[in-house]
Amino acid sequence: MDIVDLIEKYVKKEIEIYKQNSEDNYDFWNEHIKYVYLESQKLACQYGADLEIVKLGALLHDIALIRKVGDKKDHHINGEMLAREILKSYNYPEEKTNRVLSCVHNHRSGKNAANLEDLCVADADIIAHFDSIPMLFNLAYNRFHIGLNEVRDWMKKCFEDDYEDLSDRTKESFKEKYRVICDIVLGE
Ligand SMILES: [Fe+2]
Ligand SMILES: [Fe+2]
Repeated sequence: MDIVDLIEKYVKKEIEIYKQNSEDNYDFWNEHIKYVYLESQKLACQYGADLEIVKLGALLHDIALIRKVGDKKDHHINGEMLAREILKSYNYPEEKTNRVLSCVHNHRSGKNAANLEDLCVADADIIAHFDSIPMLFNLAYNRFHIGLNEVRDWMKKCFEDDYEDLSDRTKESFKEKYRVICDIVLGE
């Protein structure tokens, strides 16, 4: 098994534990990580980024949320620490590890990207929200208890904030799909 398969297996195992302990049976893989993983690879091919670094960054970017380590607001920092330990346990080379850690640390906005690989993971993290709109409804209704009359405004703000956080180049290529999604989901 190569390192990407090993990390995928590790992350899925942790996700199963998260799922069993969550009230809404939240499946982090099928609702989010899977989409970040796929979208980041598309962007990596489009932008010529290192595929292995991007794949590992995508798989590990929310590991602190999955393992419930620290506050959500610091999950990029705690995630970096956890990802270092995990990759070390698989004897992954130091130089490549640092590049994966950069993806984890900078994943919270396409505008924080320090390099192409960071950018692919950060932008994919945002696009993944648009791939998994039922997950957003679950958040709104089951976790935040937002009422039906407020959910449209809440989602509109999520969409706008997300779109704003994309890097300029991905914003441009995602523009048309974004418009169609807003049109259908928000009725605009
Ligand atoms: Fe995150
Ligand atoms: Fe994420």
